[in-house]
Amino acid sequence: MASRAEVEKDRPAGWFALAFSRDIRPGTVARSEIGGEDVVVYRTGRGLIRVVSPYCPHLGAHLGYGGQVRGEDIVCPFHGFAFGPGGACTATGNGAKPPKVGLTTWPSREAGGLVLAWLHPGGLGPQWEPDDLPGAYPYPVRTSYLERIRLQDVGENSVDLGHFTTVHKAVRPEVVEGFTTDGHRASGRLRASVVTIPGRPPVEVHFTFRYWGMGLLVIDFEPVKWPVRVRLNIAATPARPGQVRLLVSTSTALEPRGPLALAGAPAHRVMAAALTRAIDGWVQRGLRDDIVIWTHKIFLDRPRLADGDQGIAAWRRWVRRFYEPAPTLPVPDVPVPSPARGEA
Ligand code: FES
Ligand SMILES: [Fe+2]
Repeated sequence: MASRAEVEKDRPAGWFALAFSRDIRPGTVARSEIGGEDVVVYRTGRGLIRVVSPYCPHLGAHLGYGGQVRGEDIVCPFHGFAFGPGGACTATGNGAKPPKVGLTTWPSREAGGLVLAWLHPGGLGPQWEPDDLPGAYPYPVRTSYLERIRLQDVGENSVDLGHFTTVHKAVRPEVVEGFTTDGHRASGRLRASVVTIPGRPPVEVHFTFRYWGMGLLVIDFEPVKWPVRVRLNIAATPARPGQVRLLVSTSTALEPRGPLALAGAPAHRVMAAALTRAIDGWVQRGLRDDIVIWTHKIFLDRPRLADGDQGIAAWRRWVRRFYEPAPTLPVPDVPVPSPARGEA
């Protein structure tokens, strides 16, 4: 079991994924977790996403066990209290006047094919918008994991040049563009030769990784000699105490002018889907190799970094801001919504 300090440590500011958007259809009521708290995610009849604390203010029933969407409301399974999209009680099950109570709602958004909720260690509302988060290419393979790992280890992995050789058997990994930050965004670019299909020679690949806070990572792989782009979307959410949920999509796009595209649109699509499955096998093997290390390692606040670990040092400096209980990022011009009242 994680210590209290460790749980607190895994409540950084940011947008974190609760579910793949496609899994939350109108009328769906789903359970998820963020920052060690249970939440209920639902989509109203008109398609609005809502994230609420699960407990009904009437007698405390959990809306994730039998709660139902009725129109724009979510209805409690215990005595039928209904709550509108803003959280307020709109009706009771027996026709009595609704009391002035409401559900606690979380700020929520949809971006990059994910349902996101906002977490802040000081309880502040959203300090940036995730609108520019790229989604997967068409026909992605989606996977989810719930693992006893730390959030920091997931993000730190992409800047950890040394482990690409030992864990992922990459040949000559090199930094092409160093780790650069811009407020809540950060990025970098590497190149290495990797064996993507067992038994085949290594191929040279450029990796561009981009972060939106600590929980949203997009890695674009560009094999130098293949007319294909691979995108790995990794969303890491501090879910339960000591546990992180990973929502992963692997997707590919064949270059429109590449030779494979000449086969025509349907063949092109079939090839992209087959290629995605093959590459996803490589991605999942790599991820599982990382997860074994993350599960059993300890987190060193003061690691003894070596030459080549500059990316790790830069990442650690960048992420400090997300643990500050007071705002450290520029406050946006738009009014900041209250964390107690969610919005689409
Ligand atoms: S506990 Fe939800 S309506 Fe009574
Ligand atoms: Fe890795």
